[in-house]
Amino acid sequence: MKIEEKTIDESIQGEATMVESKTDNGKKLYLESYGCQMNFSDSEIVASILSDNGFSTTRNVDEADVILMNTCSIRENAEQRVRNKLSQHNKRKKLNPGLVIGILGCMAERLKKDLLEQEKLVDLVAGPDAYRDLPALIEEVESGQKAVNVLLSREETYADISPVRLGKGGVTAFISIMRGCDNMCSFCVVPFTRGRERSRDPESIVAEAQDLFDKGYREVTLLGQNVDSYRWNISKKGEIQNPDKPVVTFAMLMEMVAKVNPKLRVRFSTSHPKDMTDDVLKVMAKYNNICKYIHLPIQSGNTEILKKMNRGYTTEWYMDRIKAIRTIVPEAFISTDIITGFCGETEEQHQDTLKLMEEVGYEFSYMFFYSERPKTLAERKFEDDIPLETKKRRLNEVQELQFKMSAEANKKTVGKVYEVLIEGVSKRSDEELFGRNSQNLTIIFPKDNYKPGEYVNVLVEDCTSATAIGTVVKD
Ligand code: SAH
Ligand code: SF4
Ligand code: F3S
Repeated sequence: MKIEEKTIDESIQGEATMVESKTDNGKKLYLESYGCQMNFSDSEIVASILSDNGFSTTRNVDEADVILMNTCSIRENAEQRVRNKLSQHNKRKKLNPGLVIGILGCMAERLKKDLLEQEKLVDLVAGPDAYRDLPALIEEVESGQKAVNVLLSREETYADISPVRLGKGGVTAFISIMRGCDNMCSFCVVPFTRGRERSRDPESIVAEAQDLFDKGYREVTLLGQNVDSYRWNISKKGEIQNPDKPVVTFAMLMEMVAKVNPKLRVRFSTSHPKDMTDDVLKVMAKYNNICKYIHLPIQSGNTEILKKMNRGYTTEWYMDRIKAIRTIVPEAFISTDIITGFCGETEEQHQDTLKLMEEVGYEFSYMFFYSERPKTLAERKFEDDIPLETKKRRLNEVQELQFKMSAEANKKTVGKVYEVLIEGVSKRSDEELFGRNSQNLTIIFPKDNYKPGEYVNVLVEDCTSATAIGTVVKD
């Protein structure tokens, strides 16, 4: 069976919901987001900054005065999709010559002025650390110039900006806890597009979680490229910066957020296998409202490939972390990311990935074939020598195995009762609602009089490889 490449890009790509500005300048912003959850969360910061400057957002691109695309560079096809969309948007300039088209996010940071000068696709380029400058950049474009700010910062965390929530439903929200990444995995463009790792003030994180809870939200996901290396008031070398203030690690931060309210679920993404500590797992086990789901990207099941990827762990180390999860949080579901066809990957090394997948028994995976990215360590050091067909065939094998394992895992949920946080109306039918259990499994059930934001206990009666179907059990 052929399963389409499942990308994070597609899973959360989308337009923003409507936001009215308090200080209306009559201008309408159309904001489109691609890429990972961090980008989505950044779009909420962008919407906040621009709404404070008089813009209202619109879902109708035809009435936009400003179009901003928040973009992703992680794989070549992610960039291609954005280029296609930009050409479409450019056609609108014939009808509306005053239209401002801007690019934000990782592609903006990676390509910088090229998008203005060579490709002539946009009027404005703003990198991930330059969003406070957007009102000024838009003004510059309106006065007839092209505008660029791609400066990366060592401090910017937008901690004081209260994001405008663009997600639908009002039940779940993202909270960025850190920005950037210092890891330099050899395949990855993120350290170049997002800059140095920096953590956000824990007080502002807890305040944001409290505010969301007060507004009716019931789940927050703490976001960072490597959440386990979150640290406040202590340097990487272990030096305390301000002796009068407490040191906060990721495990401590998670506990602080979990204590906001037992009815507020806490999730996090992404854990890095080299940094995930038992402390984090122990906090997970201690609090019922910290969801029992861990996304722990392996990338490859072969230590030699992992070394070439500069991931900082061996398969033995990784399996030890899996053992720790199984011991401390036994009910947890585990998912992963896998790259097939990395430079020099042999057939045996690919088999090692399949073997490791089976050994762990992942409930879910995001799977990709390797896409060489300019300036990365891998591009400079290794040859991208696996033919595309082979990369795709290996991807297909990995996907088929995962599909089978997900179906098996979901089958095991049949007959069990799970607490589900209701998120909205199911795509299948208006008469059904959907939500997730703690393990991140989507469960569908008849609507009755239940509403999004409520918790219900659902008995699972049937399942597919992606979702479970059940009925509410009344107390
Ligand atoms: N910070 C996260 C990953 C963020 S990118 C972590 O370290 O786990 C999300 C996923 O995209 C990665 O885990 C990897 O599987 C995939 N990816 C990144 N660069 C890629 C590339 N050049 N080609 C294919 N997949 C890639
Ligand atoms: Fe990229 Fe590695 Fe950083 Fe993840 S940890 S963002 S894969 S460099
Ligand atoms: Fe893409 Fe940038 Fe996220 S490259 S995956 S949007 S950090």
